[in-house]
Amino acid sequence: MKFFIDTANLDQIKEAEALGVLDGVTTNPSLMAKEGITGQENILNHYKAICEAVSGDVSAEVISVDFEGMVKEGEALAALHPQIVVKIPMIEDGVKALRYFSDKGIKTNCTLIFSAGQALLAAKAGATYVSPFIGRLDDISMDGLILIEEIRDIYDNYAFDTEILAASVRHTMHIINCAKIGADVMTGPLSAIKGLLNHPLTDKGLAQFLADHKKGN
Ligand code: G3P
Repeated sequence: MKFFIDTANLDQIKEAEALGVLDGVTTNPSLMAKEGITGQENILNHYKAICEAVSGDVSAEVISVDFEGMVKEGEALAALHPQIVVKIPMIEDGVKALRYFSDKGIKTNCTLIFSAGQALLAAKAGATYVSPFIGRLDDISMDGLILIEEIRDIYDNYAFDTEILAASVRHTMHIINCAKIGADVMTGPLSAIKGLLNHPLTDKGLAQFLADHKKGN
């Protein structure tokens, strides 16, 4: 399972990269705004800085919602750096844009996936990744993990190459359950990734080992 970090915060990206388990980064317009990155030039420079901080795929989202606009923006993003993956919303023109970029060999991430049907359509259009938002489904009392299971079944039935990128991951159990179901990738906050480290018996055991070592020396 690949681990992506879902943030535009460079310090957190570097901290996750230093851990040695990071496979990529996902961003979205809200995450960029949260870091105060505004204006076209600053946004493009920030994507470049993220690409230079990590070695894997970096999803950069288009703002346009019409085919021509998405193509223009996506081509400019893809030209920025070879690690850029063009993030496209699951709307009608987005499906056309996925096909366009797929035919050109440009990687895509189809975002805002909330149903198995949308994931099927994105795979048919040649998306590299689909991003089902599991946390946002949980927020409205729908089980996001069931969606991951449905997409896994569909993609396995037809051997689609599209990777399931579980997004809107909020905590460690989301990561563990996505891994059990067979999501190809998860993208989550640094807190969820580092949360996997924690176990009180590890802390207790280590304290005991160190105390015993001290006694014996
Ligand atoms: O990158 C998209 C997704 O991960 C957003 O997560 O927590 O805003 O629902 P969240």
